[in-house]
Amino acid sequence: MENPSDTFGKDDCGDAKSQEDRVLSEVEWLEKWQTRNIGFHNEQVHPLADMGHQVVGVEISESALKEFFAEQKLSFSEETVPEIPAKLLKSTTGNISLYCCNIYDLTSTITGKFDGIWDRGSLVAVNPCDRERYAHSMLSLMNSGCHCLLVTCLYDPSKHKGPPFYVPESEIESLFGKFCEITFLEKVDALLERHKKWGLDYLCEMLYLIVLK
Ligand SMILES: C[S@@+](CC[C@H](N)C(=O)[O-])C[C@H]1O[C@@H](n2cnc3c(N)ncnc32)[C@H](O)[C@@H]1O
Repeated sequence: MENPSDTFGKDDCGDAKSQEDRVLSEVEWLEKWQTRNIGFHNEQVHPLADMGHQVVGVEISESALKEFFAEQKLSFSEETVPEIPAKLLKSTTGNISLYCCNIYDLTSTITGKFDGIWDRGSLVAVNPCDRERYAHSMLSLMNSGCHCLLVTCLYDPSKHKGPPFYVPESEIESLFGKFCEITFLEKVDALLERHKKWGLDYLCEMLYLIVLK
């Protein structure tokens, strides 16, 4: 992994053990959407589809997906997915397909493999005990040469139970290093008032490029 040593310091010395047993159920995520406990939600979208890509997303909350189409003023159709307990919400423009299902149910047989993956708020939301399963699932969805942009969070994990979970660089290396080239791209100070209320005095977002070897 390319990892400029001056980029890391106190930010990467947290003890991830304090979070390793923490588990959020699907129901708890659905409740977060119901009660609007969704501080992670950005009002602005990332303009992937506008750049000409066919975008496929996955989310357990149907209301979140419907909200997305409403906010973007996009009409959509709904289909069932025969292979798994899922609904597919597809923009009538045809370039945005959002699966409402458990991410672990989505396989390349259903979606095909991808040339690019944008992981913002996904690995950091996955229960720590499920990270290997998640990485395995991501790797199985990657076409050869697939580029994945991954955002993780660094903060003192003894001060916040997560999510977002603290994911140090060593974890990314252990999840993906065998199969992928990992390049550290950028560190951004992302500390907001809501993070200070959790008791944090620093929170950095780390951006990595992960390319299947
Ligand atoms: C931190 S949020 C990030 C959402 C979005 N990627 C973003 O950047 O705003 C994590 C999302 O994952 C969804 N989620 C949690 N567990 C899931 C699962 N097992 N399968 C699919 N989605 C899940 C939650 O409902 C939540 O909306």
